[in-house]
Amino acid sequence: MQTEILGNTNSVNKQGNVLIIKTNEAVARIWVYGDSIIRINVSKSFDENDTSFAVIRNPADIFDYAESDSEIVLTTSALKLRVSKLPLRFNFYTADGKVLSEDDRRFGINWQGERVINYRKLYPDEKFIGLGEKTGNLNRRGSSYVNWNTDAALHGVDADPLYKTFPFFIGIHSGLTYGLFFDNTHRSYFDFGATTDEQMSWFGADGGDMNYYFFGAQGVAKIMEDYTWLTGRMEMPPLWSLGYQQCRWSYMSAAEVLDIAENFRKEKIPADVIYCDIDYMDGFKIFTWNNETFADPKELTDKLKAMGFRLVTIVDPGIKIEPGYKQYDEGLAKGYFAAYPDEEEYVANVWPGRCHFPDFFRDDVREWWGASFTALTQPGVEGFWNDMNEPAAWGQNMPWLVKFGERYMPEVRNAYGMQMARATYEGTRKLLGNKRPFVLTRAAYSGTQRYSAVWTGDNSAYDAHMLLGQRMVNSLGITGMSLTGVDIGGFTGDPTPALMVRWNSLGVYTPMFRNHAMQGTKMREPWCWGKENEAIIKKDIELRYRLLPYIYSGFYQSHKTGMPLSRTLAINYTDDENVFDVKYQNQFLFGDAIMVAPVESTKFTADVYLPAGEWYRLNTDEKFTGGRSIIADAPLTDLPVFIKAGAIIPMQNIIQSTNEKGDGILEINVWYGKQATRFVYYEDDGLTYDYERGDYYKREISFHPDKQVISFSKVDGSFTSKYDKLKLVLHGFTIDAGGLKINGTTKAPGSHTLILANDKLEIKIEY
Ligand code: GLC
Repeated sequence: MQTEILGNTNSVNKQGNVLIIKTNEAVARIWVYGDSIIRINVSKSFDENDTSFAVIRNPADIFDYAESDSEIVLTTSALKLRVSKLPLRFNFYTADGKVLSEDDRRFGINWQGERVINYRKLYPDEKFIGLGEKTGNLNRRGSSYVNWNTDAALHGVDADPLYKTFPFFIGIHSGLTYGLFFDNTHRSYFDFGATTDEQMSWFGADGGDMNYYFFGAQGVAKIMEDYTWLTGRMEMPPLWSLGYQQCRWSYMSAAEVLDIAENFRKEKIPADVIYCDIDYMDGFKIFTWNNETFADPKELTDKLKAMGFRLVTIVDPGIKIEPGYKQYDEGLAKGYFAAYPDEEEYVANVWPGRCHFPDFFRDDVREWWGASFTALTQPGVEGFWNDMNEPAAWGQNMPWLVKFGERYMPEVRNAYGMQMARATYEGTRKLLGNKRPFVLTRAAYSGTQRYSAVWTGDNSAYDAHMLLGQRMVNSLGITGMSLTGVDIGGFTGDPTPALMVRWNSLGVYTPMFRNHAMQGTKMREPWCWGKENEAIIKKDIELRYRLLPYIYSGFYQSHKTGMPLSRTLAINYTDDENVFDVKYQNQFLFGDAIMVAPVESTKFTADVYLPAGEWYRLNTDEKFTGGRSIIADAPLTDLPVFIKAGAIIPMQNIIQSTNEKGDGILEINVWYGKQATRFVYYEDDGLTYDYERGDYYKREISFHPDKQVISFSKVDGSFTSKYDKLKLVLHGFTIDAGGLKINGTTKAPGSHTLILANDKLEIKIEY
């Protein structure tokens, strides 16, 4: 195999906004996307169309650089890129000259046949986080990974690759941070010093360009903000998708779906969503309904709606080969299916038997696919679950000669699922008019947050999978995916009652809270576990509904800044070594102020690390000083959950679904702390796109312990809150006999709670 290492610079030219450097082996291009974002592309055959599935931004126009015989120095306000010319190497520094990341001097960028690889220096204290849905530890140092979207059915807790590709990581060393996004959809590889005797880290791909974006912002959160600026942020999700979701493979008839829904209402267990897995279809034909078992889908969704439920239905890419079936006939006639180079349609077996696969890389195919959803939207479906889109087929070895768009399978496989989710999102968004669709996908590539939520595929009913699932949710958050979930209870196998209860309690703090189970497993619904367990499960789901105002505001943050709901502690406590300790690595912040410590179902106390600051146990208000670990009680009735001192957490009363208005009281809970804090409360209709035109209700709530004041800013936006009253609830405060003052007037002496009208004006509360 020919091996080439990027050699000496022959020429340097600036053309418009790109700096072009030529060597004998390849051409390097450098663009500045922003002060802290620089893109490098090193290619043997650069495609001038320069398209990306992930990136939605364009480079900035002008940048300054200085050139000498030995190097080119390009400087922005945040970054310094020193390009050594002999040989060509790319080395990044902070603006004041501290090393962020350098090429390995000997090997830098190189090729072995079509493979392109970049070897980089590894620093003694360097840690790595990211890559999205991957097994292993929070700190990926010493591990290696492959990206090749795979139907990883029955995967163990060490499996790799899995379903998704997020070739983005953050490096942390010497008190500094940087990020690197390798935008290449070929099969790709990352090695964080696993097998190089700690000499180098490296990444590469089976083909394509060495095409990466370097992020030089300081702070993990800032890098994530830049990464989601580049690749896009999620829209506001439909509020109902944040409620409890019940799924199973499969509820076999409309009658069974209704029965499940009725049982939730009868047992008074809040829930918003029920799923139809593949058996609602006629012979697994996508966009059909089984006309015996689901004879009247409209009647089904109407009845569900009357009970406050939404229906989500599954769609797979495989289109059954069956003349007379609309999608097959149309797709074949128009040439919409992926084909071999001789134009014969590719065939493989999936659930329906022999199938063709839509070529989602084409605009016309995506349009056609999107429009086909009338079969689901007309009867009232509002959620669309995209599965098997790695793509999966029995045998799992799609020939490399299958063409997608202009390219062959190996070049773009990793983006197939994303393009399916895109087609589904764009189509259903059109069909639903002003209503927000809910799209869920199993396979994904960077940027998928613009179209869809994700779940982590077919996990298993044991503790290690529950903990891994949490790490994957936290890691997906680093790569822009905020609306994420796992199959709660474990897809394969039957959880013990203790595991079901424990996992459900963790589900309260999982962005997408969905219980799902494989065909042939025991029923999983909350009432299947005996009265005592049902009561715990119910109480936890009720807590989820109490927290929805906080959760929804958290998604507003994701929408605006890319900050996910589930946050590894490495985001806020980057310099604290303990958060990377395998003992504590599953802990996370859920939103700004709730810290959750996942615990196995067999343990009833937990070793919990409390980062610096003060913390309150959620259920008791017991106060702890952080910067140390504690042994916390962890009965099945009370997952260790801690509230950060100074937290401002809006809650509501218990409702049975997000369709219910509730008692109209928004409860603002504040936990005393020594430092000033703020919370942006956000609300809108939870259903439509009117928020894009300013129809929202947003206000900042801030707590100033030095002035003994809690203040509410004036409301921004035209939306009228569904809560007509505000109830302030103070935790850990000492209120003197004078009591609380509202806008200068004394009310409720001595009390820790207070109710006032939710008008849009400024409010100042003194204690
Ligand atoms: C796949 C999915 C799973 C689904 C099943 C049947 O295994 O990952 O969630 O239930 O297919 O559609």
